[in-house]
Amino acid sequence: MSTQHLYGTPAPHPSDQDQSSSTPSSSAPEKLHLTSHNQYKTPRLLRDNLHTNPLIQFNSWLSAALDPKDGQPIVKEPEAMTLSTSLPSGIPSSRIVLLKTVDEKGFVFFTNYNSRKSQELSNNPYASLAFYWREVSRQVRVVGKVEKVSRQESEEYFKSRPRGSQVGAWASPQSSAVQEGEVQQIVDEKTKEFGEEGEIDCPPHWGGWRIVPFEVEFWSGQPSRLHDRFKYTRPQDSQESQWEINRLAP
Ligand SMILES: Cc1cc2nc3c(=O)[nH]c(=O)nc-3n(C[C@H](O)[C@H](O)[C@H](O)COP(=O)(O)O)c2cc1C
Repeated sequence: MSTQHLYGTPAPHPSDQDQSSSTPSSSAPEKLHLTSHNQYKTPRLLRDNLHTNPLIQFNSWLSAALDPKDGQPIVKEPEAMTLSTSLPSGIPSSRIVLLKTVDEKGFVFFTNYNSRKSQELSNNPYASLAFYWREVSRQVRVVGKVEKVSRQESEEYFKSRPRGSQVGAWASPQSSAVQEGEVQQIVDEKTKEFGEEGEIDCPPHWGGWRIVPFEVEFWSGQPSRLHDRFKYTRPQDSQESQWEINRLAP
């Protein structure tokens, strides 16, 4: 059995990677062993510096992550977040989606309402989110109850999307098994149908979900794994309640 030590061995040459991404690779290691011991160092996170509202605290961290450095945000795509959903049986599934809005109620992303994630959210309306911002050694975790955003909000956001993404939303039966080339064929048909101009309506099966949090944790990487963690909590069904804030052991 071959074992590859990532960080312990030179990275593969890009041309090798290109080949392995197009053909199944017989030389892929059967086991990977990660040997990094990164030391994180960011300013200490102190209770006195936290906002009483975690959504405002989140906005402050997101804004800092978006601060430009050399013309680019410090953190690449900080809005990418892991969304975990689960079946009523408890079996979880995770995937990356893009955060589009943080409002006074919660965290909003957009998707296909027939997708696996949407079906899971419809049957079990709880989700968790995780953000990892490597460049600033920060992590944010969220647990909350979900609700669909208003139709108007979905339509407004849909209007702002590039035309190709609008056509894609009509064409792709997200999460369904499809034949090779099938989606492209539907995209071609829809592109013809919609033409080059004129507004494309938001599909009825497409829109936003809002995660209304009852737990939000802020994590700041510190040396020797003695990280700073603060967790905000409030009762699940009481959006008016004060948030309780506790420091957690790393
Ligand atoms: C960086 C990145 C951003 C993504 N953003 C979204 C998104 O905002 N909405 C979405 O539906 N899928 C997005 N996806 C695709 C999802 O990860 C996933 O493949 C898709 O939503 C189907 O998931 P499901 O079958 O679990 O429903 C994104 C993927 C990546 C890697």
